[in-house]
Amino acid sequence: MDKLLIEGGVRLTGEAAISGAKNAALPILCAALLTREAVTFTNVPDLQDIATLLKLLAQMGVKINREGDTVTLDASGLDNPVAPYEMVKTMRASILVLGPLVARCGEARVSLPGGCAIGARPVDQHIKGLQAMGAEVGVEHGYVHAVVAGRLKGARLFTDMVTVTGTENLMMAACLAEGETVIENAAREPEVVDLASCLSAMGARISGAGTDVVRIQGVAQLHGATHRIMPDRIETGTYLCAAAVCGGDIRLTRTSSSYLDIVVDKLMDAGCEIIAERDSIRLKAPERLAAVSLRTAPYPAFPTDMQAQFMAINCVAQGTAVIRETIFENRFMHAVELQRLGADIKIDGNTAVVTGVARLEGATVMATDLRASAGLIIAGLVADGETLVDRIYHLDRGYEKLDAKLLALGARVRRLA
Ligand code: EPZ
Repeated sequence: MDKLLIEGGVRLTGEAAISGAKNAALPILCAALLTREAVTFTNVPDLQDIATLLKLLAQMGVKINREGDTVTLDASGLDNPVAPYEMVKTMRASILVLGPLVARCGEARVSLPGGCAIGARPVDQHIKGLQAMGAEVGVEHGYVHAVVAGRLKGARLFTDMVTVTGTENLMMAACLAEGETVIENAAREPEVVDLASCLSAMGARISGAGTDVVRIQGVAQLHGATHRIMPDRIETGTYLCAAAVCGGDIRLTRTSSSYLDIVVDKLMDAGCEIIAERDSIRLKAPERLAAVSLRTAPYPAFPTDMQAQFMAINCVAQGTAVIRETIFENRFMHAVELQRLGADIKIDGNTAVVTGVARLEGATVMATDLRASAGLIIAGLVADGETLVDRIYHLDRGYEKLDAKLLALGARVRRLA
């Protein structure tokens, strides 16, 4: 079980390149299932989750070729519309094959993803939407089994809550449906927009992506295309927080601040100077940050995937921050680990009150989920002495070349087997 040993107290300086967005690449790779023609994606990050999804697609009969950050997929030989439990349990975003498989093959059998550390993560909205489009969908022996005779039918869909992968699944299914589909209360995340632009390049007819009403005119088939994955805004925000907490001065390249407005605003409120350049972003941190409160909510509000990182920087900020998590029911697991480092955090339901302390003390802590692990790394960078973060396989799922990038920014980190 890999661990990361961090020596705290080092100011991050220098430059690091940001990778393609995990949460754009995952749905976009699944979009390859919608056509018999080859599709090519560039700027695909080299992550555990991406490798898992490519394995899942390959066992369905998709031919895959990967060279560096370019992945070509050919689903002409798709002959096994099944996503087995053994693979889905390690990567719940596998549910994103459901919509494309039903639309392309008329049938899909996808293991229920089950919950994860941060919450129950149900997929009832994905199922409800497919049923509204004419699919017979049942749950048998832990699998979602969806069947439709002929094509799905366009429908007016309304999700009970904003769901990112729910919007993405239904948008992909609607591309090949007969007639128009309207998704109301749609997710507006930039990754949804990136998927829509990829689907449009494949011949889909989509309008309204990025707003809460997305319209899709179904077409008989999609064709091949090439698409470049957008930069990872959460990876960008994570490194900005890492530099902010230790008085750093860094530049992140191959990214932009355009999808991080509220995160950039919060970092500026905390006292950072942020300079947005054409395809890079620079941050100069103050000696000590001011505490910043936040409330997570669907885009364009504060992203839940940045909550743990901001809890970490608030641990040593001047003042008290109130953090409200409104998306997931159990996304404060990093708090108890941060308390081991000496943080003053009080949890009351979905609210955390963080009172900044002068110093954190290095200790051994355990990662529980992807973004919680990022929060612990950030705290370790500023804590006195050494911090050992255990179970960092969580990090490798979502942060490409994490050690190398931290080292490039001057951090003193070492991976221990
Ligand atoms: C996506 O997860 C992201 N993952 C998550 O990032 C992110 O935290 C989340 O959106 C919110 O922004 C990917 O894009 C692969 P949701 P998703 O459906 O789509 C409830 C990371 O760290 N819900 O928007 O699974 C759900 O329980 C990951 O990169 C239902 O009740 O999240 C949650 O409370 C973590 N029924 C809320 O809606 C459903 O059918 C939002 O979930 C669907 C969702």
